[in-house]
Amino acid sequence: MVQEKLYLKGDKLLDISNYEFKSIKNALQIGREKTIQKIKDSDLKGRGGAGFPTGIKWEMAADVEGKEKFVVCNADEGEPGTFKDRYLLEERPLKVLEGIMLAAYAVGADKAYIYIRGEYSRAIEVFSEIIKAAREKNILNDNLFNSGFKLELKLVRGAGAYVCGDETSLINSIEGKRGRSRIKPPYPIEKGLFKQPTVVNNVESLCCTAEVMNPDSEDFSELGTEGSRGTKLLCLSGDLNRPGLYEVEFGQITLIEIIYDLGGGIKGSEDLRFVIPGGISTAVIKADDLDFPYSYQAFEKRGSSLGSGAVIAVSKKHDLLDLMLNVSRFYMDETCGTCFPCREGNRQINKILKAFKEEDGKIDTELISDIGNTIRLAARCGLGQSSLNFITSVIENYGKELKFGGKIYA
Ligand SMILES: Cc1cc2nc3c(=O)[nH]c(=O)nc-3n(C[C@H](O)[C@H](O)[C@H](O)COP(=O)(O)O)c2cc1C
Ligand code: SF4
Repeated sequence: MVQEKLYLKGDKLLDISNYEFKSIKNALQIGREKTIQKIKDSDLKGRGGAGFPTGIKWEMAADVEGKEKFVVCNADEGEPGTFKDRYLLEERPLKVLEGIMLAAYAVGADKAYIYIRGEYSRAIEVFSEIIKAAREKNILNDNLFNSGFKLELKLVRGAGAYVCGDETSLINSIEGKRGRSRIKPPYPIEKGLFKQPTVVNNVESLCCTAEVMNPDSEDFSELGTEGSRGTKLLCLSGDLNRPGLYEVEFGQITLIEIIYDLGGGIKGSEDLRFVIPGGISTAVIKADDLDFPYSYQAFEKRGSSLGSGAVIAVSKKHDLLDLMLNVSRFYMDETCGTCFPCREGNRQINKILKAFKEEDGKIDTELISDIGNTIRLAARCGLGQSSLNFITSVIENYGKELKFGGKIYA
């Protein structure tokens, strides 16, 4: 069941002297417009969580006027359970570099940034070396392969705030401001870094663009199913026998196979209760509803999302209330505090859950749903908007068990 031909995973790509840069050479040869068209035709969707079509983002950025343009590689990877970008940065940084170059070339940017999560010391070390080597080899800061295209790339180390993964907070952080989300519109495409048009792309998305443009991987865009093209890196964790990083083709594997074949099933003698399919900002999928092919649409249909690709298996040994408290604590700590509903709402949710646990009483699910709706409607960014997805989906699916439980074991 493991993906037979690998694209994103594979041999280490660390030696710049032996790396051929076939994708960027291909792009330079066919030109900007055709490069963007190829990315659009591939129907690649951003792998950072929101699933926005990469080709359309690039086209919009290429068309918009600006004094200068920027590309930012989002390597903040703060979603709990996600570790795919770390792998790409540490093991295949040349592919990431090539993706950044492609994006910059396609949209007409001559400056790019890579913003790496502060805790990723090894990735920062590896990528700094790659930038240094690329400068020495005249790959960066020079007339690339005599094409007239020149790119400056800087690395910025994040300071450990989850909200800085949001593209507008990340832009603020690069500018040296507090990591707080900006009101949208204007979107970064029109007014991003230093008020200039900016493309922000996830590490994995950029690696996918390098696959699309690589003459040796021409089949990449053919993989998958309609609306879900290519392959996806999955970060399997939780109560699994074989957690780890896997690459799968969209539509060719079911969630049940992901859990029981790739992940080796549930540890010990426990049963699976549910799967968190895309990190803790996504709604849970119950154990009896896993028999569907992995795709964007399948999760959407179930009111969830494949998010960042963090697939967390949760067995029945866990106390549901403890899980909810854990998630609620995360959002309470990570809210940037700009919007009152997100700042105060997440604190109130935590208070309600705590009181329920301590007093062994009934849970006021209506109040939780009311606060959840208010946050969803009034929050400025995705952190607030998705902060209740896990909790409300647990209540929706397991509400009865919560209402009458004292110690809440189902
Ligand atoms: C709270 C929050 C955290 C996010 N964290 C990340 C992250 O760590 N990496 C990432 O690529 N996108 C993250 N995103 C999504 C980005 O805002 C943005 O959509 C993404 O980087 C765009 O890249 P893509 O189109 O290639 O997916 C986050 C969004 C929110 C609201
Ligand atoms: S929704 Fe939350 S995290 Fe996002 S800007 Fe508002 S307070 Fe900050």
